[in-house]
Amino acid sequence: MSTPEMIIVETHGAVGLIRLNRPASLNALCDQLVQELGAQLLAFDADPAIGAIVLTGNEKAFAAGADIKEMKSRTFPAVIFDDFIGNHWETVLRVKKPVIAAVAGFALGGGCELAMMCDMIVAAETAKFGQPEINLGVMPGAGGTQRLTRAVGKSKAMDMILTARMMDAAEAERSNLVSRVFPAETLVDEALKIGAKLATLSPVALAMAKTSVNRAYEQTLTEGVKTERSLFLSLFGTPDQIEGMNAFAEKRKPTFQR
Ligand code: CAA
Repeated sequence: MSTPEMIIVETHGAVGLIRLNRPASLNALCDQLVQELGAQLLAFDADPAIGAIVLTGNEKAFAAGADIKEMKSRTFPAVIFDDFIGNHWETVLRVKKPVIAAVAGFALGGGCELAMMCDMIVAAETAKFGQPEINLGVMPGAGGTQRLTRAVGKSKAMDMILTARMMDAAEAERSNLVSRVFPAETLVDEALKIGAKLATLSPVALAMAKTSVNRAYEQTLTEGVKTERSLFLSLFGTPDQIEGMNAFAEKRKPTFQR
């Protein structure tokens, strides 16, 4: 993998941190950036020393959406045959380890959609979420109409997608788009703390648990519970199930396998 230019990669103990880094364009998601991001996500996912991943931007923007200047001259045949969005943007959905989006400033359009593809979103008090694609004569194209609607409900999703209004962090927390809100100065540290906690847990149990929660988006309740049951039962006999339950019974901390 060549050295990335549009992301900054750090490791903090067992947590991989990726900072989107195109500050002059508010981290607009151009082809190069999404490719670098995808490659790094897969690299962390394959690294046994990493137990969780945090994805963040800077204090002004998580990401202000797809790069409009790059996108504006794309033609219909080009977007179809290049599989625009489908080709690289959704790599995060293939990651088995937990991915936390830590959002400060703008998370707009594809930026909001990227955050929603992560497993959870934590936000700074400065965060602003929106799907303003309608202002460009288009509509969300990386899951916004689907994931936002499932997160905040139809009326609020319609409000944001049809009027392009932004939602602040307090409203996003009230509306279940984000799980926790922190002061901007501590956002990344708090996200890293969550990641560090996750990195002490069983990787296989975490992977099955996130798969099961994600199925809740896609299946009926009956089918979802069936999926959950088979994933739960599949964990019996794993070394981590034996260790976790024995450690509880022996009143000691479990040591899970990496
Ligand atoms: N694409 C390309 N460049 C962008 C950008 C984007 N999405 N968002 C911001 N920029 C650039 C600006 O053009 C500007 O560059 P210059 O200094 O070279 O002019 C720089 O970032 C700073 O932006 P502003 O001067 O506009 O900053 P501001 O603080 O006045 O406004 C903003 C901030 C409200 C976020 C405004 O930049 C904005 O509205 N950006 C576009 C947001 C948007 O429409 N996002 C959706 C994109 S479409 C999409 O994402 C499709 C999809 O579903 C996949």
